Amino acid sequence: MVNYKDLGLVNTREMFAKAVAGGYAIPAFNFNNMEQLQAIIQASAETKSPVILQVSKGARNYANQTLLRYMAEGAVEYAKELGWEHPQIVLHLDHGDSFELCKSCVDMGFSSVMIDASSLPYEENIALTKKVVEYAHKYDVTVEAELGVLAGVEDEVSAEESHYTRPEEVIDFATRSGCDSLAISIGTSHGAYKFKPEQCKRDPKTGRLVPPPLAFDVLHEIEKKLPGFPIVLHGSSSVPQEYVDIINAHGGKLPDAVGIPEEQLREASKSAVCKINIDSDSRLAMTAAIRKVFDEKPGEFDPRKYLGPARDEMKKLYMHKIINVLGSNGKAE
Ligand code: G3H
Ligand code: 13P
Ligand code: ZN
Repeated sequence: MVNYKDLGLVNTREMFAKAVAGGYAIPAFNFNNMEQLQAIIQASAETKSPVILQVSKGARNYANQTLLRYMAEGAVEYAKELGWEHPQIVLHLDHGDSFELCKSCVDMGFSSVMIDASSLPYEENIALTKKVVEYAHKYDVTVEAELGVLAGVEDEVSAEESHYTRPEEVIDFATRSGCDSLAISIGTSHGAYKFKPEQCKRDPKTGRLVPPPLAFDVLHEIEKKLPGFPIVLHGSSSVPQEYVDIINAHGGKLPDAVGIPEEQLREASKSAVCKINIDSDSRLAMTAAIRKVFDEKPGEFDPRKYLGPARDEMKKLYMHKIINVLGSNGKAE
């Protein structure tokens, strides 16, 4: 048993309270490898932004759970080395799908866990969330729950269509489950294909897809029901078209990839939305940079020569999100 406090990590409680009051959102970036983690910490340290390091079940399987935990511990030291005196870093389980997985993360030093029981019937979602909350709170670990179903694939949770969160359920859900934050469904979804072309309009000048707006009315209803309660948005990558273009120009094939426009995320950040999850954009930044090197320098075979540019591109992306979209820069001086 390792407690996150001994690793220099923090939970989300105070971070979220400040973000809701201050009208900004905390970035939650997924990581699976060293370059991603370095880029996240460099960007957070440089901007003095609180940050949530997200580890999915898939990431634990890919990178090894023990290694990831030590990497997060190392990240705190690395942040200090970069001159960030008081780093505010959360280590968070993304889309935990069982009590056992959440418990294992709490026991190995995570400061926050998500139990995603959103695919279960309502009462079962409450019961499982409550069980995780009861265990996690013993160690002061915060718990994110989800109500409503996102379109697309949520790890192993799949949904045929999006089911927006029902505002009339949120008070009962939050009260009875005891969760510390709530992920809601208002039209975002995971991955680089968030909307089907038939759901979008097409900009006649650029030929690009223009997605339908997020359901801000649902968000505002939820805020009214739970004033000040921390709300989370999953599936919030914007799918920058410049990365899609670079990937496609260098042998990739991502036709009609489309994300959530950044202005809408900026708007959401000013509300009770205090955590915004971004994974796909970082995957696109990395892939674009690597494809470019492979295409332009076919003789290159030193991984540092393509992983290095990929890391730089991800850092640029994270800084942009922090400063221009979420507004969390300078909130962890
Ligand atoms: O929400 C899903 C995250 O993007 C993590 O994806 O399960 O492929 O690691 P993953
Ligand atoms: P994106 O696929 O939009 O980056 O969403 C990531 C996410 O929600 C992780 O939980
Ligand atoms: Zn997610």
